[in-house]
Amino acid sequence: MREARMDVLLGAQWGDEGKGKVVDVVAADYQLVARFQGGPNAGHTLWIDGRKYVLHTIPSGVFRADTTNLVGNGVVIDPVTFVKELDTIREHAPDITDRLFISRRAHLILPTHRLLDAASEAEKGDERIGSTLKGIGPTYMDKTGRNGLRVGDLERADLNDRYTSLVRKHHRLLGMYGTHELTRQAEQEWLEAVHQLRELRLVDSEHLLDAAFRSGQRVLAEGAQGTLLDIDFGTYPYVTSSNTVCAGACTGLGVPPSRIGRVIGIFKAYCTRVGSGPFPTELFDDTGERIRQAGREFGSTTGRPRRCGWLDLPALRYAVMINGITELAMMKSDVLAGLEQVGLCTAYQVDGRRTEQFPFDIAGALPVVEASPGWGELKATDPLPEALENYIRRIEDAVQVPVRIVSVGPERSQTMERTSTFAKA
Ligand code: GDP
Ligand code: IMO
Ligand code: MG
Repeated sequence: MREARMDVLLGAQWGDEGKGKVVDVVAADYQLVARFQGGPNAGHTLWIDGRKYVLHTIPSGVFRADTTNLVGNGVVIDPVTFVKELDTIREHAPDITDRLFISRRAHLILPTHRLLDAASEAEKGDERIGSTLKGIGPTYMDKTGRNGLRVGDLERADLNDRYTSLVRKHHRLLGMYGTHELTRQAEQEWLEAVHQLRELRLVDSEHLLDAAFRSGQRVLAEGAQGTLLDIDFGTYPYVTSSNTVCAGACTGLGVPPSRIGRVIGIFKAYCTRVGSGPFPTELFDDTGERIRQAGREFGSTTGRPRRCGWLDLPALRYAVMINGITELAMMKSDVLAGLEQVGLCTAYQVDGRRTEQFPFDIAGALPVVEASPGWGELKATDPLPEALENYIRRIEDAVQVPVRIVSVGPERSQTMERTSTFAKA
């Protein structure tokens, strides 16, 4: 039997590319879907038969009845958000708790992590990251600082002591920030949620995955955020606190690199970013506003308006390089329909010199934008208009990877498989 592989699906921009939708569409081809990093800062939206679901921590394979789902060791879990999320999807997927596994090695977000996140952002003032304030940064800091509380600790007799000791540490830090302490109610809510979490299927997930591979199962790793928000390769410090890139799937699940098969990069036909930080192709004009309205570009987690701009090819090429992307899915082409011309950033001007390379400091990069003819309304049942085909071919030429999926609306059914004529020279 051919050795089973793990395919990785991840964001190739600044998050919110439409990862959730594509995972839900392709999950039918996999036996197991596993989230490998991030936490409730993520918001993955699925539209199934006119109903909207937003998943924050639970993998986007849950609505496929035959798919097992795993929250991997690289994820940070807020028990309160987690059990609420479980309740919202139980109606559509009543057997969810039989098909949902959680790694014992995943770290827990405490209510004090959220307070620390808010205090740190307030202290930064104008330099703030624009964090989702879900406690992500402080939880990963405790993980690397070797102070964290893990899901597996919920099964230990001394859980209360461990919790109290960490909270005491947090209170000392909060005192330095001059912020108030945790409310009794928030603490109570957390402790109740922890009891519910403990009842779920907590596993040594690296072994579960190994067994899955040995029995020939197909596994899909689901990323959160996007390449340009990666802690190492993103637009630091305006990034999240985990490795969102393909390598993060190995450390976030305990899967060796030699197991990785296809790497599916998700990108929008344009770019968006929510929160602070450089964004070379950002549009501040009516076109930017038109894209925001047509694309309903408001955060799935925080409701904040997303900044909008043209597609950035040097950034996309960088994402292809760092992740080893083997194929791309282009989302939201329908949102640009009706524009007479569509802009495409093909290079940057940095210190007066043209470059196609994503630089160390993107803040000073000026985009070189090419205009291409726009296209009209799109339907999943119709062939792609010529102008859109030409736009896609231009992208393939620039990044040297085929675009195999084109999405023309938020519903499962509004997804087209594209036969790419692209072939590497
Ligand atoms: P994720 O975080 O990468 O899963 O993406 P989000 O769910 O945060 O944001 C993507 C948004 O675009 C969601 O509201 C989706 O329902 C929506 N969406 C996904 N694909 C398409 C598409 O092809 N066209 C349109 N109009 N909306 C889409
Ligand atoms: P999904 O998985 C878009 C952004 C925040 C902020 C920065 C750091 O839905 O694509 P954090 O809360 O991690 O400390 O915030 O990262 N951010 C996202 N932007 N999509 C996301 O997730 C994001 N998760 C975090 O807006 O700028
Ligand atoms: Mg999102």
